Amino acid sequence: MLKVNLEGCKSFVSEEQYREYVGKALAALDVLESETGAGNDFVGWKHLPSINSKNSLVDECEQIRDSWKAKGVDLVVVIGIGGSYLGAKCAIEALKHPFSSLLSGKKDAPEVVFAGQNLSEEYICELMDLVRERNVATVVISKSGTTTEPAVAFRIIKQYIENTYGKAEAAERIVAVTDKARGALKSLSTQEGYKTFVIEDNVGGRYSVLTPVGMLPIILAGYDMRAMLAGALEMEELCSRPCAETNPALQYAAMRNLLYSEFGKKIEILVSFNPKFQYLGEWWKQLYGESEGKDGKGIFPASVICTTDLHSMGQYIQDGERILMETVVTVENAQRSMVIEADGQNLDGLNFLAGKHVEECNAMAELGTKLAHIDGGVPQLQLSIDKIDEYNLGAIFYFFEKACGISAYVLGVNPFNQPGVEAYKKNMFALLDKPGYEEQSAAIRARLAE
Ligand code: PA5
Repeated sequence: MLKVNLEGCKSFVSEEQYREYVGKALAALDVLESETGAGNDFVGWKHLPSINSKNSLVDECEQIRDSWKAKGVDLVVVIGIGGSYLGAKCAIEALKHPFSSLLSGKKDAPEVVFAGQNLSEEYICELMDLVRERNVATVVISKSGTTTEPAVAFRIIKQYIENTYGKAEAAERIVAVTDKARGALKSLSTQEGYKTFVIEDNVGGRYSVLTPVGMLPIILAGYDMRAMLAGALEMEELCSRPCAETNPALQYAAMRNLLYSEFGKKIEILVSFNPKFQYLGEWWKQLYGESEGKDGKGIFPASVICTTDLHSMGQYIQDGERILMETVVTVENAQRSMVIEADGQNLDGLNFLAGKHVEECNAMAELGTKLAHIDGGVPQLQLSIDKIDEYNLGAIFYFFEKACGISAYVLGVNPFNQPGVEAYKKNMFALLDKPGYEEQSAAIRARLAE
């Protein structure tokens, strides 16, 4: 079971201060539960584990998986950006064998690759090099149905699939996940006859990993969504309790807000000693950055993978400006085993490690880093799970979402909007002469000519 441990903060804060922030977090939880806070029409994600463990969504996703398997599909391109991309990417990166595409032997599931998360011409050309070699299908995900990055990628992939397999077959190889009524993607999908999954109005992009946005790619990649929902369901129950002793989301939200507001810890680094969690950092940064970074406030979310980044960011964390706190996601048990053998000559001087598992060295690196960073003035919050699997990932997803809603309300911002994201889009559309942006185009050109 997922647990929060705040021992690594004890030397920085008093019990009284922590209690005060637990009180704030309890009040914020009440606002979230009673749906009386800012953005309360976007809290549909709170009950997704219980709802989606009972309805037919997993079955429907599995049907697509089976029908594409019958066609011999060996590459699925998942198109989306932000919340329509990062949850699935995080889960698949955490669960897959990192070298699966290079290993020989029959694959049980198609390779899942991502597009539409950038506007790089090189990226899409190189992705198409792969697509042309494979038997391909695609899932296009956009809640608004109007986001430029996935729309550009989808136009390219759609044209390729239609040209390669014919229009009728293309309709069987394209699935859309979008709004039930609005947006270009919805109208296009209806016209072309694509199977479509709905993203409910009351679930925002970054809270959507437990909807078909995350479920369909995760199932297509061969993973067990029922187990993920079961892990999330356990957290749905625990994280709704108005009890600081048993609700891990309350504990985490209270401590990070205390460190931010009273101790100037303006940056929170999500740390993992397992490289499979690189994209957990990316998903978490989006969730917290978009939810909290507004109105001139918010903890800046960063992430590192150790021990890799101890040889780059480690210096700053230990010794740079003291505005950092860390949240370490500890994985207690490795699922593979490798013992370091003794060597007769001991030329590398490593015989002191003989007989130890590599993971024991990793665990000691983690503990040594924790002590060093605390000594260096970096408080450490810890989240632990017993192993990386679907169940624990479901728990992590739900835990962080719930804690984010609570945290943002403690901070006094709306956790569910993202007004700041529009600024770059307006400039980009003006620069690309999108119809309707004529005035902005003229203004931006005049500004650039100054
Ligand atoms: O969390 C969010 O709402 C955003 O990050 C969106 O997910 C992202 O902008 C993509 O939007 P859409 O799904 O509408 O294409």
